[in-house]
Amino acid sequence: MGILENKARARLFYKYLSTVYDTINPFIWNEAMRDRAIGWLDIDSGDQVLDVGSGTGFATEGLLQHTDEVYCLDQSIHQMEKAFAKFGKQGGVRFHRGDAERLPFADNSFDHLWSSGSIEYWPNPVDALEEFRRVTKPGGRVLVVGPDYPNSIVMQKLADAIMLFYDEAEADQMFEAAGYTEFEHHIQQSSPGSPKAITTVATVPEAGDERNATGESVEQKTAAPGDAAAD
Ligand SMILES: C[S@@+](CC[C@H](N)C(=O)[O-])C[C@H]1O[C@@H](n2cnc3c(N)ncnc32)[C@H](O)[C@@H]1O
Repeated sequence: MGILENKARARLFYKYLSTVYDTINPFIWNEAMRDRAIGWLDIDSGDQVLDVGSGTGFATEGLLQHTDEVYCLDQSIHQMEKAFAKFGKQGGVRFHRGDAERLPFADNSFDHLWSSGSIEYWPNPVDALEEFRRVTKPGGRVLVVGPDYPNSIVMQKLADAIMLFYDEAEADQMFEAAGYTEFEHHIQQSSPGSPKAITTVATVPEAGDERNATGESVEQKTAAPGDAAAD
């Protein structure tokens, strides 16, 4: 497990990165890539969308072009403060400080769920993907963007030491283990030679249709507490 696949370390990392995040981010993950990926969610105006690991609100800005009903969740108050400055703390965007692996929302709360650039920090990504399935309505879509596994052995060793980088086969395993049966992957890159992003778009199965990696049906979790306010 990479050094940043740890919630406390990731929080500390973003305390410092938050100050320059919006300047550095576009070299790897730019507006054109984001907007293309948002198109795969097929959001209707008025849909409720949860943005997990919303950070400074880069993806949130794109989601707001499709619906006003955007909820943001992040574990870093430093990242969220940058987003408050863009959208207002008490404005239309609803902010929640919390953990991707234990979402403070009831079952079937959202029409769609988006998460970009955050999965690489989660110690238990399958737990988070199960949570995404739980809080998103059946038939809704869950979209997760993460770092694609590099090709060179040297870069693979470096990547593995830092955080989760994964290829399509590993994405298949994670989404199947979390009970999804229908999903597809897309690879994007901002410019030749830059790191690639892997995006998985999954459809949330109808209740009773969930299957884990061994093909056994997956039990639904009990409801989580309702909305928690940002702190
Ligand atoms: C690279 S930023 C991505 C921000 C934004 N989604 C974007 O596309 O620019 C990753 C974000 O994930 C958040 N994060 C990391 N681990 C998390 C966890 N377990 N629960 C919630 N947020 C987490 C970090 O605090 C950070 O703001």
